[in-house]
Amino acid sequence: MENLYDLPHRPRRLRQSPAHRGLVRETRLSAENLIYPMFLCEGQGEKQPIGTLPGQFRWSVDRLVETCADLIPLGIRTVNLFGQSTQKDPRGSSALDPDGLVPRAVRALKAELPDLCVQTDVALDPYTDHGHDGILVDGRIDNDASLDILARMAVLHGEAGADWVAPSDMMDGRVGVLRAALDAAGLTQTCILAYSAKYASCFYGPFRGALDAAPLQGPPDKKTYQMDPANRMEALREVELDIREGADAVMVKPAGMYLDVVLAVKQQSRLPVAAYQVSGEYAMIHAAAEKGWIDLEKAMLESVLCIRRAGADMILTYFAPELARTLNESVSHD
Ligand code: PBG
Repeated sequence: MENLYDLPHRPRRLRQSPAHRGLVRETRLSAENLIYPMFLCEGQGEKQPIGTLPGQFRWSVDRLVETCADLIPLGIRTVNLFGQSTQKDPRGSSALDPDGLVPRAVRALKAELPDLCVQTDVALDPYTDHGHDGILVDGRIDNDASLDILARMAVLHGEAGADWVAPSDMMDGRVGVLRAALDAAGLTQTCILAYSAKYASCFYGPFRGALDAAPLQGPPDKKTYQMDPANRMEALREVELDIREGADAVMVKPAGMYLDVVLAVKQQSRLPVAAYQVSGEYAMIHAAAEKGWIDLEKAMLESVLCIRRAGADMILTYFAPELARTLNESVSHD
């Protein structure tokens, strides 16, 4: 065909076939990048559907182990566990029960699936009757009073065999206190995944339903410890502090609406960056797909790919098993 225009630069040349596109693709997503967040419950043989999170369940320890065994062939090698407690009190004391749900689950997983990398959530909200991540003193979340129990919780998880502890509480100084406590207990190899830039987001709504953990007393929200969604510079400051205190990886959460923060953190930090595609992000995609308004599989792939493109090395997502299955099915998804 005759060349009518003087166009030496035609970006479309590199888009003309799947092979061309594959050669120039800048971001790759693989199951190796994914971390699967999972919820626990008491009992035996339990697989309780979570109404607010279609396709997600609360697992009793036995079913958790079976389900995790099926993740490994998919290429998912890391899970992040969230506990639950019926014995809630103002100080979240049941978080320190050596026979609590999380330590039992970690022990069972490490015994049956030693190659599975196990992360545990460290925060008090499933264990406190007021539903906050720290201890409530005179109507306020007391930072320093919360640190000791969080550190003991991390040590308990580490002693049970957790490979990573993931403090999601946003108390100041907790990464340093956790690192010191882990080291003092001889747990020098237990990694810390710091929720460094965790925003006070409405997108945690479906998760709070899953865990039955929303603020009930004291401040009605978590804005005195989680970050203001309007801020980015502050995220860099939080990251800097966590790195100084001994974090092994830093996290931005939520992910999809905070991609500028993910990018900024990736550019600033010399540590691996994690991003958490939270319950609300997952639930929105499901809800729109259920209405027939978007394609579930494509939205899943695109949403997680974009988080990776922004700079996340590891991505926590409820889509993890489904996404891994899809990624493994064919070479290319374009
Ligand atoms: C609480 C915690 C929350 C999430 C992870 N850990 C909720 C909150 O901070 O209120 C949210 C995860 C999600 O929405 O998927 N420590």
